[in-house]
Amino acid sequence: MKILIVGGGGREHALAWKLKQSARVTDLLCAPGNPGIATVAQCEPVAADDIEGQVALAKRERPHLVIVGPEVPLVAGLADRLREIDIPVFGPSARAAALEGSKGFSKDFMARHNIPTAAYGRFTDASKARAFLDTLAPPYVLKADGLAAGKGVVIAGTRAEAEAEIDAMLAGRFGAASASLVIEEFMPGEEASFFALCDGETAVALAGAQDHKRVGEGDTGPNTGGMGAYSPAPILDMAMQAQVMERIVLPTVQGMAAEGRPYRGVLFVGLMIANGEARVVEYNCRFGDPECQVIMTRLKDDPLAQFLACATGGLAGCRRMERFADPAVTVVMAAKGYPDAPVKGGVIGGIAAAEQVPDVTVFHAGTALKDGQLVANGGRVLNVTATGHTLQEAVSAAYAAVDRIDWPDGFCRRDIGWRALQRG
Ligand code: AMP
Ligand code: GLY
Repeated sequence: MKILIVGGGGREHALAWKLKQSARVTDLLCAPGNPGIATVAQCEPVAADDIEGQVALAKRERPHLVIVGPEVPLVAGLADRLREIDIPVFGPSARAAALEGSKGFSKDFMARHNIPTAAYGRFTDASKARAFLDTLAPPYVLKADGLAAGKGVVIAGTRAEAEAEIDAMLAGRFGAASASLVIEEFMPGEEASFFALCDGETAVALAGAQDHKRVGEGDTGPNTGGMGAYSPAPILDMAMQAQVMERIVLPTVQGMAAEGRPYRGVLFVGLMIANGEARVVEYNCRFGDPECQVIMTRLKDDPLAQFLACATGGLAGCRRMERFADPAVTVVMAAKGYPDAPVKGGVIGGIAAAEQVPDVTVFHAGTALKDGQLVANGGRVLNVTATGHTLQEAVSAAYAAVDRIDWPDGFCRRDIGWRALQRG
């Protein structure tokens, strides 16, 4: 089978690495890929959000399945364009990707289907938005409606900050994405990510994970795309996963089908868990990055049959993938200055040495080749990933590998996994 993966980050490297091991995969393509992905797949120089370029590539190559990694091409309708030419796609249509593409849509959808989430209001008018703050207690959660590369959420500690943020967002702080706002109740609790595979009609659970969004140790400093992740997430035990499937994932998939927006692909539910109850923080229409890296590393089953069933139907006949290795952790190595102004171009050495540490794989997120040398080419650059009999062993292996990487411009958090380790 020929598979095309769209994207070029650590998430797509992990997917390519996993599918390369499938006995059924004969040709593996990735567009645009990166130097790490090039070791397992043929990379094609088409940007992930170049919809016309991706469609042209798919027409030329006629893959049996296209797996779309990032949200931007999904929200822009890449899956629709590929389905129009009869190419199976793992990834939702634009109308289904609205679960991530519009916070307002997703909040109204959850309200229509009684899916547990924070109380909220939607606003385009600043005075109405300010008046809604009267119904809430601080801290206030303000969200740009549209995609803002993970930066469109502001948690304001005081009323004055919230009011200033309302004005800034409506004045275009996140461009068109913040022309409309969601303001919601702050949910205390522990955050976790849950992933389920969906074929438009039904869903099967995949796995849970937790990531570390803040740039600094102890979960401090600005939000990022994620500085590290681990799976399983102790808080998402089997009972909690069953609750999330029953109260959130299945009603979501059934609700989307009933509204004429069948959801196909992986559904990533960002959860806040408190007092044994899970509520939705947000939906994403794709795998988490870096959560995908730990899930693919732990997974012993070949996911290809399930991915195909998501694209073409019949997931109800597939069993849940259950063969998982011991815990996995990934440590993100980012370029100094990330998330504001990462230093690009620094030469990176030592990856082969790092991968000699047993049970370690290094996924490339933002690397490039320049004059034959591997250089940093983004904010999050490497994902040093390890498994172990215990999370502590995985963490120790990952940091032993990090210490073999020679990249003076890079940094990482040294406390990935702390919350789960503290639980003991
Ligand atoms: P989102 O992009 O919606 O996931 O929001 C980014 C981050 O803001 C989340 O990962 C949470 O840490 C936090 N957050 C968002 N909404 C809420 C909420 N209603 N209550 C508490 N924290 C929230
Ligand atoms: N790591 C969180 C995300 O992919 O959105």
